[in-house]
Amino acid sequence: MKISEEIQNLIPYSPGKPIDETKRELGLNRVYKLASNENPLGPSSKVLEAIGAELTELHRYPDAGFYELRQAHTKKFGFAPEWFTFGNGSNEIIDLLIRVFCAPGESVLTSANAFVAYGICTKAARANFLETPMAEDMKFDLKAMKQIYDDAKSNQPVRLIFIANPNNPTGTYVGKAELDEFLDSMRGETETLIILDEAYLEFVDADDYPDSLQYVKDFKNVMVTRTMSKVHGLAGLRVGSLIGHPEFIDLIDRVRNPFNVNNLAQRAAIVALDDEEYLKRVREVNTSGRDYFYAEFEKLGIKFWKSQANFVLIEPQSDGRALFNSLLKLGVIVRPVPLRKDKTFLRISIGTKEENEACVAALTELRDAL
Ligand SMILES: Cc1ncc(COP(=O)(O)O)c(C=O)c1O
Repeated sequence: MKISEEIQNLIPYSPGKPIDETKRELGLNRVYKLASNENPLGPSSKVLEAIGAELTELHRYPDAGFYELRQAHTKKFGFAPEWFTFGNGSNEIIDLLIRVFCAPGESVLTSANAFVAYGICTKAARANFLETPMAEDMKFDLKAMKQIYDDAKSNQPVRLIFIANPNNPTGTYVGKAELDEFLDSMRGETETLIILDEAYLEFVDADDYPDSLQYVKDFKNVMVTRTMSKVHGLAGLRVGSLIGHPEFIDLIDRVRNPFNVNNLAQRAAIVALDDEEYLKRVREVNTSGRDYFYAEFEKLGIKFWKSQANFVLIEPQSDGRALFNSLLKLGVIVRPVPLRKDKTFLRISIGTKEENEACVAALTELRDAL
């Protein structure tokens, strides 16, 4: 069978190594997973209760029109219901955006070292994938992106620009002044959508972080993706959202599988959205874990990047792959990220106090290999 080159060359998404697999392979009893930026606290009790009540409805198809889920978002964010749609995680939304708005031969633009799904979904859609190198300090270089955008215009027009803010795996962010300037420079570009991917928004505490929803109001071609997988603790249920102009939301709704978000996930998301007490606790655990990591990494002389998310990127002086394997043997799973051809970095998710301490203890034991 003839298979397209793009599909043949596709490097699949590599998920964090599972705990059970690591236990089995290495004969360990206790394993800590700090590899997938998951919420370490488990789902909130309110969510568990709501899902329990929904179980008797499992013989029904989910609400394909997301009536209640849209209402809950309207109440929370102030846009009319037709400004929202939802996906099986925001990963599905990324995939849908590319399938709907970018034809084969057209281009998707983002930065190198951004969230890996942008590249995978673009290649799967047989579109061109353009990346600019990161600026210093592992940040998106919006000026370079504008330059590439302008250069590509005549032959492979860019249809979608993805800006992960904060970015995974670097934890860095784009501030308001920079984003204002970039969006202003794109004001006339009505054939291109700019997607602000805010999977980690709720962990941000930077003063100059921009208000993305104001951009959605000001620019028809700016859309925002969010997820319930991180601060809301629903990674296993798969709910992501897209906020943007109804004309574009409608196009996504035509293409998406009508039952892409199941009953339990929709119910859980409605409850999780407003569970302020739980969200506050998650943020507190994350902030104290982040500060603990910074202090310990400094003591150990590890180079790291300040993060606005629920993980911290470190640059080992030695081989990151070897360090990843040594940490595994000590029962700590982190994520190796080959950000440079010659260098693997490690992304460490922030966990509970116990998990963070186990990670620091393992790093301390491996001090000579850092
Ligand atoms: C920047 C970014 N965007 C989107 C996602 C997708 O999340 P989900 O599909 O669980 O909503 C992730 C997941 O790690 C991410 O890091």
